[in-house]
This record gives sequence, structure tokens and C-alpha cells, in this order.
Amino acid sequence: MPTPYARPLREAAHPRRRRPRPSDPDGATAPLRTGAPSPARGRGRESNVKRFLVAATALLLMGSVALAQTTITVAAGAVGQELELTRAAAERYMAAHPDVVIEVLETPDLSDNRLGVYLQIFEAQSPDIDVFQIDVIWPGDLAEHLVDLYEYGARDVVDQHFPAMVQNNEVDGRLVGIPWFTDAGILYYRTDLLEKYGYDGPPQTWAELTEMAQTIQDGERAAGNPDFWGFVWQGNSYEGLTCDALEWVYSNGGGTIVSPDGVITIDNPAAIEAIEMAASWVGTISPSAVTSFGEEEARNMWQAGNAAFMRNWPYAYAVGNAPDSAIAGLFDVAPLPAGAAGHGAAALGGWLLGVSRYSANPEVAADVALFLASPEEQKVRAVEGSMAPTIMSLYEDQEVLEAVPFFDRMYDVFINAVARPSTVTAPNYAQVSQAFFTAVHDVLTGSETAANALAIAADDIQAITGLELGQP
Ligand code: GLC
Repeated sequence: MPTPYARPLREAAHPRRRRPRPSDPDGATAPLRTGAPSPARGRGRESNVKRFLVAATALLLMGSVALAQTTITVAAGAVGQELELTRAAAERYMAAHPDVVIEVLETPDLSDNRLGVYLQIFEAQSPDIDVFQIDVIWPGDLAEHLVDLYEYGARDVVDQHFPAMVQNNEVDGRLVGIPWFTDAGILYYRTDLLEKYGYDGPPQTWAELTEMAQTIQDGERAAGNPDFWGFVWQGNSYEGLTCDALEWVYSNGGGTIVSPDGVITIDNPAAIEAIEMAASWVGTISPSAVTSFGEEEARNMWQAGNAAFMRNWPYAYAVGNAPDSAIAGLFDVAPLPAGAAGHGAAALGGWLLGVSRYSANPEVAADVALFLASPEEQKVRAVEGSMAPTIMSLYEDQEVLEAVPFFDRMYDVFINAVARPSTVTAPNYAQVSQAFFTAVHDVLTGSETAANALAIAADDIQAITGLELGQP
């Protein structure tokens, strides 16, 4: 395709063939004005032509660079250090690919809000965003809007990732996203305060956590900190509450809301008991405002030094140890406590990178996605941001393990994390989760009993999915 700059150059190269202009009836004047007529008219014209050629060539070069430059827009998370890390990775890609410009767009922190934004973009079939950061629970819900990365080179790299994570992102044999980082719910605890109050390790059961949180809270308040709380977590009415509540329920033997084989199990005594336990924390060891907390609200209170325990994802480790953190060096992490099941449970989270079907440049977009999820880039995110890699070999990388020692110590927690029922309820998972977290939130805020709320959730989930009701 001729560039807009091609024509002047061609004209300049053949000045005598220029078409006459109205102001130039004989077509004999040089294309550039030279000022006063010169005796050396012939030479002047020649140098004008040369200057024109040089200028036009420069324009042509600039034009072709500008035209060949592809802009790829990446919709990314901004929880903790996420945005900075993604922008730094984009800079590294651009340094190696001067023909690509990457724009990293910040998206809402709460997963549900982010999904809302994405759905609007997808429904409009908009090419404005090329690469999307996709939650592990969305592949089934969003598959129709995403390209098959197996058609864009992912086949060569998927073996580096945990097979279960790759499998989670396959829908009808199509790879709708390349795993980027994984998440598992973990317990953060203040080592200094546990020691101060005579505890020799983190709690093993929820009952122990409740007792320890109360003791430390009473002590710290008596010592002059009225803002101190025992335990902070994610109690807002959103996807994060589904994760926390799944952990309480599963660790108490209450199943996974909907079983992997498609039975709605959430209305059961062990689940009811688990939700009642969490409701008893609100206003006692957890602030009443916990029912409006997402990840970042919990982390802010914790990182200001105002909580003994926090449930959160691994990203809070690196930021908690940053120089501006009040608790740097004063905390550690452990598996979440056990309930009646006799073991704790970590909800499986994480994110992948998918390429929009409506992208104008799916090949470049896929190359960017695969670069961001590559072993080198995942290593940077792990070391600088304590974000858990999906690349298996990085769990044996000394620099990663030095930066985030619990990746080694708690490897089993990551590997055995409990999945939300997103695959079995796709493409309706978002609605199923909403029915669940709304019910749990009603119990936490005291507007419904756990028994009623979970019975209602089970019925709602049946109406959404048409699956059977049963016990775990
Ligand atoms: C984390 C998890 C994600 C989960 C979200 C809920 O970002 O990685 O899977 O849905 O938290 O708040």
C-alpha cells in the first residue's frame, strides 16, 4: 500500500513530469521556492531537488516507522504493585520491539467490577483492548470472546506451566489464556505479637485463631491502640468473599458450593456452621467494616500495624515488607487454619492473559501475552512482587525462593488449593458466585440466618444452573 509520503517523493524524483499547477502555468518552476532569482539557476534547482528529496525521504522513514508501529493495549490489575510490575514488563518488551507500543490500562480492583468492564467491551466487540488479564474463574464464561492461543504459538510453551492451570484455561480444546500467576489464600500473622502474648506458632484451627486474635486484640487495646483488631479478611459482597467463605466451608467439611460433578451442595450443616463462625467474628475480632473490605482494605489495616492476623493472597507479602510498611520484618505466613474437616483450605485464585477476538492485531497481542507470562517475566513478578508463578521450574529457582521463602515451605498449599466451581457451572459461574456471596454477606451483616441464607443460595443456584441439589 503506498504511504501518504510516497507520492511527493515520486514527484520529486521526476520533477519534470509534475502536472502544471494553476500558479505555475508552464510547470517549469522548481518545487521549492528559492528566493531571489539566481544566475546559477540550474544548480539552485538541483540542490532544491536534493533538499526536497532528503526531506521527503526523512518523512517517508518517519512515516513508515509510525505506520508500522502497532499499539497493543493491555487491561491489567492494579492491586498492590501489580500495575507497576506490568508497566515495567511492557517497557522491556518495547525495548526489544521498537515497532510495538504497549499501553497498560488500569482496571478496577474488585474482580466483579473488572468483569463488568470487560463484558461491556466484549459485548461492543471493541478492538480497543487487545490483551485482558483474566481471572481463573472466567475462562468458561468468557471463552467466546478470546482467541485460541494454541494458534499463536502457545503450544510450544504450555509444558512449562502447571498442567492443572493450563487445563483450567482450556475450553473445548482452545487455550483461551496463558497462565500468568497463581494465587492461594494464606494466613498472615504478626510474629512479634505472637511472641509477646506467649504463642509459639500460628493457629492450627479456626477456634485457636479466634482465641488468639481476641487475646492479642484485648492486650493491644489495653496497651493504648484503640484501632487494633484481631483478624482482617475480605467480607465485601463480591468474588473475594466467595473465596474466603469457600475456605471456611471446605475446611469444615462443607464442600465446594457445587461439587466438581455438578451437585449443588452448599445447603449443609457443616457449611452453615462455618458461616456462623465467620459471622461471630464481625464486630468482635474483626471490625464491622470488614463486611465492606476487599483485599486492599484488609491489607491497609494490616500493613498499618493494626491487625494480628490477615487472610490474603501472596502479593501482600512483598508490599508488607517494603520500607514504607509499618510491619516490615514483623510477620510471616502460614496455611489457613483447619475446621472440622481436620485440614485447612486455600481457595485457588490466579490470573491468565487472554487475547481478544476483536483485536486488530491478535498476533502481536499474543506475542505480548506470551512474553508477559514467560519464565523470565514471571520470575521478576515473583521476586519483586511475591506473585506466585505458574511456571513449575521457578519453584526451584534460588532467587525466587530467597525472595519469597514460603513458596517452598507452602508449596503443597499452592498445589492443593481448592478450586471454585467455575468449570462445572460455566458459562454461569459469575451468577452462581453472586448467589453465594450475597447469601454469605447477608449472614455477616446480620440480615439473615446462615441456615436460611444457604437454603436460598442453593435454590438460586439451581434456578441459574438447573443442576441437582445434594450433600457434599
Ligand atoms: C485474587 C484471585 C482471584 C480472585 C480474586 C477475588 O485476585 O487471584 O482469582 O477471584 O482475588 O477477590
